[in-house]
Amino acid sequence: MSTVAGILKSSLGRKYVMAGTGILLFLFVVGHLVGNLQVFGPPELINTYAHFLQSKPLMVWGARIGLLVLVGLHVTTAVQLSLANQAARPVGYAGRGAYGSTWQSRYMLGTGIVIAAFILYHLAHFTALLPGINGVGDFSKLKTVLHGEPVRDVYAMMVLGFQVWWVALFYLVAQALLFIHLGHGLASLFQTLGLRNHVWWPRIQLFARGASLAVFIGFALIPISIYLRVVGADYAEMKKAELKSAAMVEAVVPAGKAATH
Ligand code: HEM
Repeated sequence: MSTVAGILKSSLGRKYVMAGTGILLFLFVVGHLVGNLQVFGPPELINTYAHFLQSKPLMVWGARIGLLVLVGLHVTTAVQLSLANQAARPVGYAGRGAYGSTWQSRYMLGTGIVIAAFILYHLAHFTALLPGINGVGDFSKLKTVLHGEPVRDVYAMMVLGFQVWWVALFYLVAQALLFIHLGHGLASLFQTLGLRNHVWWPRIQLFARGASLAVFIGFALIPISIYLRVVGADYAEMKKAELKSAAMVEAVVPAGKAATH
């Protein structure tokens, strides 16, 4: 076994993998949040941003593959660490948990699994645009015009998507779990990096709590303000009418035949 493989299979090496992949995933989440907050501006703002990303397929696919590798490593290493912990302590601790462990730390695997399930739903919802799962209709029909070119209407997808109560609720629950997961994960990654001492630990915990709360508030504001019709209500009505008429046209002239008529 090479030295690198040996280190990666050790408990400390695995913790470094968790910390490294965790930092990069956190940076993605913050970047994604900043991009999504543009929904509070006019529709063209987030649509121009989304179109810019979509028009760079090499960058988008590079980021997708990178994220997949990061999530894969983060999840498999978490499962390996958890199995190794159980094997080392088959009886478990008496009472509620290990001495000094916080309630968040005991729920890392559980919150992580629900967040992974949320990401799968989220990809089907807003990236693959599966019509049967959004409670509205076929999002791939939502188009807008930017610089004379028809492009994907991401603003419409969001304002229509979060008017559906169970979608908004599911996103909120997932963000709450992400908040718990990040709050503990951010603090423990600094601990893995050897920064747990009486001077730094209170500051690290403050940073972890503040950063995870800021991410939660930022993401949660989106479904809440859309569901309460504070954002995009008129635009959503207009787009609902467009979707309805597109569906009616399709009922009369099936999509495949439309071009031949
Ligand atoms: C209120 C919360 C969120 C909203 C409104 C939102 C919105 C979106 C939208 C609109 C897209 C599609 C972008 C496009 O097609 O141009 C997207 C993609 C994505 N989101 Fe989110 N997102 C949220 C939370 C999250 C969270 C918490 C994560 C991860 C933990 C996440 C991970 C992703 C990923 C991996 C993609 C796929 C990017 C791609 O390959 O196209 N999102 N999101």
